[in-house]
Amino acid sequence: MKLTNYGHSCFAVETAGKTLVFDPYITPNPLAASVAFDQIVADAMLISHGHDDHIADAISLAKQTGATVVSNFEIITWLSKQGLEKTHPMNLGGSWTFDFGQVKYVTAQHSSQLPDGSNGGNPGGFVVSNAEGSFYFAGDTALTLDMTLIAEEFDLKFAVLPIGDNFTMGAADAVRAAKLLKCSTVVGVHYDTFPWIKIDHAAARETFAAAGMTLHLPAIGTSLDL
Ligand code: NI
Ligand code: MN
Repeated sequence: MKLTNYGHSCFAVETAGKTLVFDPYITPNPLAASVAFDQIVADAMLISHGHDDHIADAISLAKQTGATVVSNFEIITWLSKQGLEKTHPMNLGGSWTFDFGQVKYVTAQHSSQLPDGSNGGNPGGFVVSNAEGSFYFAGDTALTLDMTLIAEEFDLKFAVLPIGDNFTMGAADAVRAAKLLKCSTVVGVHYDTFPWIKIDHAAARETFAAAGMTLHLPAIGTSLDL
């Protein structure tokens, strides 16, 4: 699986011949100014929760790519009212098998108000599974024991976890999360974008290394194979 970092919590994963884009927030992010938005392709777009820093580019990217947008029921209802037709609503605990694999929408401990103040439902994360393996995107969340349930069910190749602290887990809790998930390969997201979540990259990597784990922090616009 090839992961491309588009900044903040936005990234793409190429798997099973498809491209999945998560939590589109590119055009408002000065750190992602080098990303050629109009070149981004997507077969599916998965949105973890309703906050602007996870959904700002959803409408425009969906129209550009024709991607099927997957999120919780309230967010899909809100996007549908704005004209999106290729959508798939889910809710916590549910799974659905798409042409790229199975998606399970799992719990996150956070909040989910939409940019106009509408109810964004409950926040979540995604576990994607297919013949190439399984990975977990936590969305925005605190450390939560629910992560043990993911480890019971899935053998994760990698986990994409927030590490910026203040609004979500920081690096130390992300290490504890990775232990609960039984997954030693982590891609960090949700850091540096705002003053409250600026982190020391070397210190974050060392926090993981001290636990025998690998923290990947790919530069924005770059990719890695996982
Ligand atoms: Ni959030
Ligand atoms: Mn966020």
